[in-house]
Amino acid sequence: MGSASIDQAPPAGAVHSLDHFALSVPDLGLARQFYESFGLDVRVADRGLELRTFGGEHVWARIAEAPRKKLEYICFGAFAPDLPVIAARLRELDTPQLPPPDGEPDGALWFRDPAGILLQVRTAPKSSPDEKRPAVPPPPFNHERASPYRDARPDVRPIGLSHALFFQPDMRRAIEFYTAVLGLKLSDDAGPVAFLHGVHGSEHHLIAFAHNEAGPGYHHSAWAVRSIEEVGLGAAQMEDAGYARGWGLGRHVLGSNYFHYVRDPWGSYAEYSFDIDYIPRGYDWVGGHPDPENSFYLWGPNPPEDFTRNYEAEPA
Ligand SMILES: [Fe+2]
Repeated sequence: MGSASIDQAPPAGAVHSLDHFALSVPDLGLARQFYESFGLDVRVADRGLELRTFGGEHVWARIAEAPRKKLEYICFGAFAPDLPVIAARLRELDTPQLPPPDGEPDGALWFRDPAGILLQVRTAPKSSPDEKRPAVPPPPFNHERASPYRDARPDVRPIGLSHALFFQPDMRRAIEFYTAVLGLKLSDDAGPVAFLHGVHGSEHHLIAFAHNEAGPGYHHSAWAVRSIEEVGLGAAQMEDAGYARGWGLGRHVLGSNYFHYVRDPWGSYAEYSFDIDYIPRGYDWVGGHPDPENSFYLWGPNPPEDFTRNYEAEPA
């Protein structure tokens, strides 16, 4: 799918990472239980919860309390010289910059995408990986038992946020906006689903969109694990914790990752993801426009009937 062209200088004004995302949910206690069971480092902060991966200080998600589940904002990380370039584009497109929400520091760009999703772009270290994530080596064979006993199953702890998928009511406008303003590039466009990556080196998608007539919303966040074994163990870990609903084990076509999606208490999902395709810095990835039926997943069980339902956009 890729060409051989490597351009060492990504264009100015392109974000490098999905820095974090912010949700509101009706029950922070339940959110804490869900994400702790999932294997994340969940800490209580001033205005809700912060989700980290163990061993790191980066906050990948913030969760506040509100009557209904809602996507609050998406934050992208950029290198300092790229921020004024993005600000200039906002002016060219007559997209107003907004004051930071209460309690948020100055210095970041805040604005809304065409569907009304609040976006933040701020200077931040690159939190997306610079190369394909390492896999744990396969277990030994010939000499010893490769599988532990059931009661000795290791805990699964994701190593980072891979990507997130959001509902969009107008796919063309969304793709145009995120590529023109944020410098993201289209990896693959399957019509009702599209995938965008960063030109500073990122996985096949930092963010993805799924079409939903009713409005914007948060569908899932995907968390990288180190083997297909961990994808399966993660699913078992969540089933033990009472979260048996979801979709997997399977393998996607676009992005190529092995997946298991666990349904959260609000009808959206957290995904264990392994071995997603990687697009190096400056690499001219040639995307496709595949038929969605032919590119949703390579193998796996049928998805739940309501897998792409946008509960967030439905009346209470
Ligand atoms: Fe995903």
